[in-house]
This record gives sequence, C-alpha cells and structure tokens, in this order.
Amino acid sequence: MVRTFGCQMNEHDSERIAGLLEHDGLEPVADEGLADVVVLNTCCIRENADMKLYGTLGTLKKWKDADPNRQIVVAGCLAQKDRESVRTRAPWVDVVMGTHNVHRAAELLHQSSESGGVTEILDEAIVDDYALFPSALPVRRETSYRSWVTIQIGCDNTCAYCIVPAVRGKEISRPIDDVLGEVRSLAAGGVTEIFLLGQNVNSYGRDLALASRRAGDDTVRIAPQFAALLREVGAVPGVRRVRYMSPHPKDMREDTLLAMAETAAVCEHLHYPLQAGSDRVLAAMHRGYTAERYLDRLAEARRTIPDLAVTTDIIVGFPGETEGDFQRTMEVAAAAEFDSAYLFIFSPREGTAAAAMVDDFCDPAEVGERYERLKVVLDRSAVLKHRGRIGRIEEVVVEGNSKRNPAHLTGRTRQNKLVHFSSDEQLRVGTYARVEIVDAARFHLAGRFVEVTALPVHRTRIAVTSA
Ligand code: 5AD
Ligand code: SF4
Repeated sequence: MVRTFGCQMNEHDSERIAGLLEHDGLEPVADEGLADVVVLNTCCIRENADMKLYGTLGTLKKWKDADPNRQIVVAGCLAQKDRESVRTRAPWVDVVMGTHNVHRAAELLHQSSESGGVTEILDEAIVDDYALFPSALPVRRETSYRSWVTIQIGCDNTCAYCIVPAVRGKEISRPIDDVLGEVRSLAAGGVTEIFLLGQNVNSYGRDLALASRRAGDDTVRIAPQFAALLREVGAVPGVRRVRYMSPHPKDMREDTLLAMAETAAVCEHLHYPLQAGSDRVLAAMHRGYTAERYLDRLAEARRTIPDLAVTTDIIVGFPGETEGDFQRTMEVAAAAEFDSAYLFIFSPREGTAAAAMVDDFCDPAEVGERYERLKVVLDRSAVLKHRGRIGRIEEVVVEGNSKRNPAHLTGRTRQNKLVHFSSDEQLRVGTYARVEIVDAARFHLAGRFVEVTALPVHRTRIAVTSA
C-alpha cells in the first residue's frame, strides 16, 4: 500500500514505487490491515509534514508490532530532508529513501529484510541512470487514459519560501527523444491524455545544451525548447490532450503560447502561479516579475489562446506582508479573473530564506482572516467563469460515475473543469463525449450527454470462451 502526501510529482513517484514493487511480486491493497508493506511517500512543500509523518509512524508502530515481518518505507521529500533522523525518531521504520532513489525501492526492501533497516539518500540524481526518469521503470498508473510524463526534475529558481530546490536538486531536463519515446509507447497502449510535469517547464532544455557543451561534444547544440516539445508531444498519433505544469510567469514566452494555440491537442488551460500581488512581496519572494508584468502576459496568453482557462497558486501571509500588500493581492487576483485558485497560508520551511525572516512573520489570526477574504474574491470569479459556460457544448473525457450522484457520470473538459452529467448510456472511463452544460457551481459544472466523440482505446476486458 502506498500513501502519498503532496504534489503531482510525488503522486507520480508513488505510481513508480507501486509499479516497481508490483513488478517485484507485491500486490496493491487499499487497506493497511491487509498489507505487508506500507510506503509513505512524503511531501514537505507546505504543511508541517513532519508532524503528520511522525503521527502516522506512531500508529504504524502498532501495525508493525503485530507482525515483525511487516515493513515500513518512508520515501519522498521529507525523507530526503530529514535523512538519518527519520530512523532515529522512528527506529521501527525499515527503509528511508530519498527522491532520487525511487528506482531502488525493491532492492532496498530486500536489503532491509536481510540485514535490518536501511537509509539511502542520494544527493543528486544520476544523469543517464534510469533512476532519473520513469521510462524504463514499470509504472502503475492510476487512470487508464491519462498519464503523467516527467520532462524535468529539480528547480534552479530561488523562491524564498520554497523547499523544492533543496529536496529535488538542480534542474535536469529529460532528453526530448526520451520524452517522446515514452509518450509514443503510452499512446500505443491507449493513453490519450498526457500531463507533462516539471517544476519550471519554461526552462526545459536549457541544461541539456549546457551539459553537452561542457562535455565537449555538441550533440545538443541548441537547447530544445519547451514550445517544440509541446508541439511534438501533441503530434504523437493517439494523443488527444496535452496538459502541463508548472510554468513560471517570469519565463513564459510567446513561442510557448503560440505552441499552445497552434497544437490542437494542447488543452486551453494555463496554470499560472501568481503567489502574491504586491510588487514588494513578489521581490521579497524572488519571483522575478511584477504584478503588472504578470497581468500583461496573462492578457497576451488570453489573446493568443482563445477560451483559455487560467488557474493559479497564491500564498497569504508571506513574512512582512502588510494589509496594503494584501489589498494589492486582492486587486490583482480580481483583475486576473481566475477560473480557480489554490490558496496557501505561508508555512516556514526550514532552510529556506523566508524561514529566517522570523521577525517579519505575520500574525496567524490576521493571516486566517486574509485567507477568508481572498477566498471570497476567488470563489466569485470561479462561479462567474463557470456560469459563462452554461449553454455551451463541451467535450469531456469520462472519469467514471459521479461521486455525488452515482446515476450520473463525471468528466473533465479541456479547460480542466469537472462536469457531472446525466446520460442514458453507461460510458466507459476514457470515453470522449460531448456534453451540454446546463448549470454551474464553484467547483463543477452540470451537464447533459449529447454524443460520443471517441471510444477508449485501451483494452481492459477479456472474454475467454470455448468455441
Ligand atoms: N508556504 C506556503 N505555500 C507554499 N508553496 C510552496 N512553498 C510554500 C510555503 N512554504 C505553494 C506555492 C507553490 C505551490 C505548489 O505551493 O504557491 O506554487
Ligand atoms: Fe519552488 Fe519557485 Fe522552483 Fe516553483 S519555481 S519549485 S516555487 S523554487
């Protein structure tokens, strides 16, 4: 059983760990009570993951005491950061492995069965080792029609609040042929939606050209660009949708917007993290743009890509944020007219620049109040955006039965909006269908089935009969 905390990158790592362990003969179960191995894939980006992890490990101690053959693995960012101290604080943990050791999951479990607990943390990813990217590893995908594809790991930026550069290391891009190879094989297996993952996708390829030059060969003379990658991924036969995350507003360029607009498969959705609306706070965060520049580029994106949905991340309560700064965030957020937003309360991450600004930490009660006020602005703009879609016919990919009403189906539009819709036909997961939008709420749309546009390609069912 693999429990994940955190971002898509982490979820994808979990799929890789699950895939490797399945390959090694383990079978996935949903219930801890039935498991022999529990993997906790940790995240330390925002919450006090420490508390959560050690709390969970406390509970798992009893689980392990019931059968000493059971094994506990702690993986992910928090493992990378805390290293040896995980096993000092929870000596019943069997394996601690970092973010660059995912490929070693099965070996480390064997090693610990033979000789007791192990901790293995690599400081950096090994280039050219298949440790780096998942193409050579078995992956257990959570959905049949959509797959994450890592195009880059690590991050070279220095956002003052962010722990990612410390735990995920420097930026390393995956060679374009390798990415395309994985996409082609996924598409051949019936995957129709590709979600490209990187911390800072706009700088994709920069390091490849540099590394090649440094090595004295100029195989990669010109850095492959993210825009080119988007176009090529979108051209792979069978790929109907391409999404990506996350771009950095300071590096967003026209060629990427054009590639989005001109590549039919690339979805009209841009996740565009604002973080703050005050230029003073943006500078303190080291974000590299002003609010005005952010809004200008957003306007350009909307001009270039018709019907673009825009989502964002915003942090409330960055050290030193005044009421005036916060007002500016409210104004910019309102002006940006986001389709939806992830709102975070600043959380000091040990070792980051912002964590040292203790004297400027905001009053938690005030931050809580700001959070609620901003949420009102963001919710209002989400509802307005959603209402604007009523009466339209949109294509969705079916995700399954609706959790709110099992008689309905749930699908996702190209703008990444969830639609709960009625249908007389039971459509299989992965079907593409056109749906008429009849109603809208904050987090979803309601619709009516119109027609199927494409059936799922993946083969999941088999009938064996004797003739
Ligand atoms: N505190 C609060 N939010 C954070 N994020 C990253 N680090 C922190 C932190 N220390 C948010 C940012 C980022 C998203 C993935 O998480 O908004 O875009
Ligand atoms: Fe963190 Fe900034 Fe890198 Fe994003 S761009 S991962 S927020 S340092």
